[in-house]
Amino acid sequence: MTVLDDPRTGPQPAPGTVRSSRARRYVMCRPTAFAVRYAINPWMDTSVAVDRARALAQWEALVRTYRSHGHTVELIEPLADHPDMVFAANGAVVAGDRAYGSRFRYTEREAEAPAHATWLTAHDFAVQPAGHPSEGEGDFLVLAHAVLAGSGFRTDLAAHVEAAAVLDRPVVSLELVDPRFYHLDTALAVLDDGHGEAPPDIAYFPGAFSRHSRRTLRELFPDALLCSEAEALSFGLNAVGDGRHVFLPADATELAGRLAARGYAPVPVDLDEFLKAGGSVKCCTMELHR
Ligand code: ARG
Repeated sequence: MTVLDDPRTGPQPAPGTVRSSRARRYVMCRPTAFAVRYAINPWMDTSVAVDRARALAQWEALVRTYRSHGHTVELIEPLADHPDMVFAANGAVVAGDRAYGSRFRYTEREAEAPAHATWLTAHDFAVQPAGHPSEGEGDFLVLAHAVLAGSGFRTDLAAHVEAAAVLDRPVVSLELVDPRFYHLDTALAVLDDGHGEAPPDIAYFPGAFSRHSRRTLRELFPDALLCSEAEALSFGLNAVGDGRHVFLPADATELAGRLAARGYAPVPVDLDEFLKAGGSVKCCTMELHR
């Protein structure tokens, strides 16, 4: 059902090679309404209090970190009563001037999709709203020549087919099977999207995927960085890469060390307040992919 376009997955640069970054454009949403008022993933527990001031400070530090690394951060206005809207990645998936809008699985987040579509339209993106449940960059990770797409918990397979047409890129469907890793971006990180000199490079936790999807990943990315369950549970894979830097949760120290050995510059960011809602760095960041 997927169209495979043979993403370039040749050997990784020799040890010691310095990787190069490219300036990115991110969309983020200030967590003014952040809370855990409902539970739609196993990380959410409504009896646990959220420290909103701390969340806000952590989020602001992430914005500053991106900007100090040369990236552009644009802001979308938070909707009142939408505590999860800080997870801007879920609002759409963008490649070039096209955007595939979201259709949230749960009614609690429904209104976020049109808000993102309005923002994107105002910024000159051609937005096609999803006809099937689809949660944006939570489940769609964009590479230079393909899009990796998750299904199983939030996004329907039918949305993968739609996204391939809307974004005009081949989509590789991957099935998630562990509810703790309910979005693709909790189980797989794009370290390098493959736009530059190096081939696309990813890290993932195999245990989050069905047998056949593990096989797909092995075939397409034989040199991928394989992560342990502990690394995945620290939300280390909820990371953002710019080709050289990998912005990742500060608790993922083991993964940070392995990324450094692979030639990346890990940039730890403390976002643990957001773990209470099942999110971290990548969830807070929607990239306007070129
Ligand atoms: N509480 C949010 C939800 O369950 C967390 C979303 C995290 N976003 C992500 N891209 N994984 O929908």
